Amino acid sequence: MKKKYYIQTFGCQMNVHDSEQIAALLTEAGNERTNNAVNADYIILNTCSIREKAAQKAYSQLGRFRDLKRKNPRLIIGVGGCLAQQWGEKFLKKAPYLDLVFGTRNFHRVPELINAVETTRFPAVETAFHEGDESAAAVTAMPQNGQVSAYVTIMQGCDNFCAYCVVPYLRGREESRKLDDIIAEVERLAAHGVREVTLLGQNVNSYGKGLPKGTDFAGVLQKVGNIQGIERIRFTTSHPKDLSPELIRCYAEVDKLCEHIHLPVQSGSDQVLRRMNRGYNRDKYMEKVVRLREVCPDISITSDVIVGFPGETDEDFRKTTDLMEEIRFDNLFSFKYSERAGTAAAGFDGKVSEHIKGERLQVLQALQETHTLEKNKKVEGQVVEVLVEGRNKNSPGEAMGRTRTNKIVNLKGSPALVGKTTPVVITMAYQHSLRGELLSKKEIDRC
Ligand code: 5AD
Ligand code: SF4
Repeated sequence: MKKKYYIQTFGCQMNVHDSEQIAALLTEAGNERTNNAVNADYIILNTCSIREKAAQKAYSQLGRFRDLKRKNPRLIIGVGGCLAQQWGEKFLKKAPYLDLVFGTRNFHRVPELINAVETTRFPAVETAFHEGDESAAAVTAMPQNGQVSAYVTIMQGCDNFCAYCVVPYLRGREESRKLDDIIAEVERLAAHGVREVTLLGQNVNSYGKGLPKGTDFAGVLQKVGNIQGIERIRFTTSHPKDLSPELIRCYAEVDKLCEHIHLPVQSGSDQVLRRMNRGYNRDKYMEKVVRLREVCPDISITSDVIVGFPGETDEDFRKTTDLMEEIRFDNLFSFKYSERAGTAAAGFDGKVSEHIKGERLQVLQALQETHTLEKNKKVEGQVVEVLVEGRNKNSPGEAMGRTRTNKIVNLKGSPALVGKTTPVVITMAYQHSLRGELLSKKEIDRC
């Protein structure tokens, strides 16, 4: 009988993608996925430790899995991702019921490690980085039937060492995948019906480090833009300091590149940006935004901000809200600063109290809500191209898709629409989504 595996993921798109690869490998090895941890033979928890809250969530979930193991001692529990990378072998001391600990660059070995555990009944730990070993990035799970959109890893790791961030310590140095491998993977995805790819990396616009001269991210976009069957290209995440003029020009030159960029600013204050080691100041960030909007007037810009970084004063915080007023992001992900052991900022003076962080976060989120709605309202009445991704999970019988600017659109439509790009008139804008109607054939002809 097939063994059942259950995978749960916390954290970023990178983790989501890694988990999908693990799932595909476990299925390929003859196992079956289950959505119910209670009847699983193997449980995999892919963790995030970018903020303390994410780490806490993982620990409490592990506690629940421990209870399942008490009832079923043959259950194999594996933990992967950033928290596993951080703790390595020591995780077994913290949580003796674990059978498997695998790091951020070892997830492709999960089926083999589970086999070893089943045979020996000894726990397995694999968190080493094998430099130059692309196998983790290159595992290429094929999409599930009907999957319209897929992630493709183009680089791993990060060399930036922003003062608050654990990623460079847990995901290692930047390593770019070979361009030919990326292209081959996208071609395979296109042949399986995928219409949209999101190129993934911690810092995609520094793609090319360590590869032959002349290989850069703009080149990847151009090449992927020529692949038949792919209709949309997205990427995440890009660092403002590495956003090159060539890359900005791609918004005019590569038709398939969607009019959206996630460009984390983190703060609007030069003093804070310097202490964060971000490598740009407010003016430099603004210059890039202005240039992006010159090249692509309808581009939607989203960002990340941290409030309460050590030393952030009321005045610094006001500079962040000023910047938001000036730019008016389409959406913003905002976080309270969370101290991470081993990072430079953990040793900084001027810690901001939780209370002030909370207040600043509220102010910022309220401001962003008004901007998001204002941006969404601008689309009302417009005809936009929507790629239909599947059904609207909150309203059976309805379809859900996205605009090129990455806004969610709910609409009445049949399953036959899935995977199709279609013109839709936006009838209503809300905070988190848009409502639209398919254009009739007559209206399309008139457009
Ligand atoms: N505390 C709070 N937010 C953080 N981020 C990264 N590290 C921290 C931290 N220690 C945020 C940044 C980054 C996003 C992915 O997470 O805004 O862009
Ligand atoms: Fe962390 Fe900065 Fe690297 Fe992003 S660029 S992963 S915030 S160190």
